[in-house]
Amino acid sequence: MANYFKTCFKRLYVNILQFLLGISFFYEPPVHALKNKIINSLLGSHIGSKVVILDGVKVLNWPNLTILDYSCIFSNVTIRAQGKIQIGRGVIVGPEVFISNGDHSITDLSPMSAPIIIGDGVFIGARAMILGGVSIGDHAVVGAGATVTRDIPACAVCIGIPAKVVKYREKPELTWTILGYKNI
Ligand SMILES: CC(C)(COP(=O)(O)OP(=O)(O)OC[C@H]1O[C@@H](n2cnc3c(N)ncnc32)[C@H](O)[C@@H]1OP(=O)(O)O)[C@@H](O)C(=O)NCCC(=O)NCCS
Repeated sequence: MANYFKTCFKRLYVNILQFLLGISFFYEPPVHALKNKIINSLLGSHIGSKVVILDGVKVLNWPNLTILDYSCIFSNVTIRAQGKIQIGRGVIVGPEVFISNGDHSITDLSPMSAPIIIGDGVFIGARAMILGGVSIGDHAVVGAGATVTRDIPACAVCIGIPAKVVKYREKPELTWTILGYKNI
């Protein structure tokens, strides 16, 4: 019973914090740095001070999440970090993207997870889905609505379900970030 209440209070605490931190005051730069500090100290994540996280973002297991500077997580993104998830520098995670490394074995439904690594300067289009065990190379682009089930090489542009590489782009000298153009 004690464990039940402990789990309930922990969930309530995380949900209330996520709701409060989603208020626009907290995500407009430069206040976002304060927000990231609060998230890191109260929820145990590893989020750079120059990361911008917009409203409605939901994370399961904040301690498993690392996000490096100049990345922006757009509205209503869901990140279910059953294992490590790393998001590099200058990444754009578009609205309503779903990133999850929770899975179940197709033999007996045992829970499983494998790390997700998203490189620097990656753009993930709206409503894309990134599954467990996948690495997305630096400066790759994932099209809106794609489902990434296998590794994507650096600078590749991929679309569809499952995501397939359709072309490659040049690594730009400067990359647009929500905090201005940066050398990513
Ligand atoms: C994948 C993407 C980056 C490709 O950009 P692009 O290279 O300029 O692509 P184009 O518009 O020239 O389209 C090339 C082809 O791919 C198709 N295509 C483009 N995006 C697609 C997508 N997400 N899924 C499936 N097919 C797509 C186009 O219909 C076109 O097909 P066709 O040659 O048969 O006509 C872009 O279309 C995309 O999905 N951007 C994300 C938008 C988004 O999420 N916005 C929210 C931002 S916060």
